[in-house]
Amino acid sequence: MLVLVREPLTRTGRGISMSKSAKTRYVCTDCGAQAAKWAGQCSDCGAWNTLQESLASPTNKANERFAGYAGEDAARIRRLSEVSAEPDERLSTGLAELDRVLGGGLVPGSVVLIGGDPGIGKSTLLVQALALLSDRVPALYLSGEESAEQISLRARRLDLPIERLDLLTETCVERVLALIARDPPRVLVLDSIQTFYTESLQSAPGSVAQVRESAARLVRFAKQTGSALFLVGHVTKEGALAGPRVLEHMVDTVLYFEGDGGGPLRLIRAVKNRFGAVNELGVFGMTDKGLSEVSNPSAIFLSRQAQPVAGSCILVTREGTRPLLVEVQALVDQSPLANPRRVALGLEQNRLSMLLAVLHRHGGIALFDQDVFLNVAGGVRVTETAADLPVLLAVLSSFRDRALPEQLATFGEVGLAGEIRPVPNGQERLREAVKHGFKRAIVPSANAPKCAIEGLDVVAVRRIDEAIDALSGWA
Ligand code: TYD
Ligand code: MG
Repeated sequence: MLVLVREPLTRTGRGISMSKSAKTRYVCTDCGAQAAKWAGQCSDCGAWNTLQESLASPTNKANERFAGYAGEDAARIRRLSEVSAEPDERLSTGLAELDRVLGGGLVPGSVVLIGGDPGIGKSTLLVQALALLSDRVPALYLSGEESAEQISLRARRLDLPIERLDLLTETCVERVLALIARDPPRVLVLDSIQTFYTESLQSAPGSVAQVRESAARLVRFAKQTGSALFLVGHVTKEGALAGPRVLEHMVDTVLYFEGDGGGPLRLIRAVKNRFGAVNELGVFGMTDKGLSEVSNPSAIFLSRQAQPVAGSCILVTREGTRPLLVEVQALVDQSPLANPRRVALGLEQNRLSMLLAVLHRHGGIALFDQDVFLNVAGGVRVTETAADLPVLLAVLSSFRDRALPEQLATFGEVGLAGEIRPVPNGQERLREAVKHGFKRAIVPSANAPKCAIEGLDVVAVRRIDEAIDALSGWA
């Protein structure tokens, strides 16, 4: 059964009755000048709209009394070797893909920030994970956005085990801490940090100062009690609402939710992780039963056409600790413009311009009167240089209007001198290609396997012109 802890709705919004004892001041975010009153322009440096409210003394006695837990053990200097470092005991969230981006499960006392566009599935994911966790450990869902009824309705519709999941709809950090200080849950979800406020500041919930101060208190709580904490953060373009950027320094792990523009795929990427690899990717599909895990994402990102088409090349990339096969698509078309377009989706645009210059200078193929469009299928963003060679091959294939050889996978960095440079974990990438039935590969010569891989015809290349020649060898 869901446990609803209800607060009388006596204070809605930011009351006037709040404690005046905590002193606030206004600090310019540009030059650090302080002012007693808010003003549109900083009187020191003249910058506009940079004065932010902040606490004059963030750890005053009144706040500690409220929280109840603070200040219990005074700091002392210790030898690092004395500090016992148990192999970090990790808590599985019950969702393997989420565990993967967290670096192998949830670390007790860690703070995880999850950012993403509205409606992408942050609340859905956390309700699912927390319900699965609540079977094993005490878990609490703190919502400042949705009503208890809404959350219950969604959890029931998703058939989640909610018998032991606790719920609290309260947005005042001091009250929350007072309620949970006695018996801290092992896992805590705050949805979302922008809706919470601390009584020691007068600015509205969602302002930079409020978000920072509320989060700081909760982070302190997590560190002192060993509760793992998930914070949901909104991403907005305006500066008025604090995005999770302010918080990124405070937390241990930052996860970003990425979608494929209306499609069902949802990617969770770790952009900062004190307990695991960054750029690790978790893949989910949004279904009518919530988010379901995609354990073999290569199969999803490869849109296999019945026949090979021109302008398509399969790249073996590596996201975090896992190799992934994705399709790079290029369209090269005669341009009516004086400055032909170079458009890259999911890849870096400047890198595309650079690669086209290399193709001209060292491959002898000029595209200065052609528009070049580039896309990575499935909405994945590829940031590694291993995409260079596949990009050039896809561009070339579209330009010549000739499909690349069937069942070809490739990777490799292209240097400005036209050389093909190795990328990390070549063997692992090749194994992933074989696993998905690829029969041919063009790879940097330094990545060539020491002994032949069964069923895979590997061509190792040193320069861009060798790679172009390799294509005609198979034609
Ligand atoms: P939500 O988790 O509320 O997004 P966020 O918290 O990031 O704002 O997700 C809401 C979206 O997810 C909404 O557009 C509908 C979709 N959805 C499904 O498609 N299936 C489901 O089972 C659920 C719960 C949501
Ligand atoms: Mg939500």
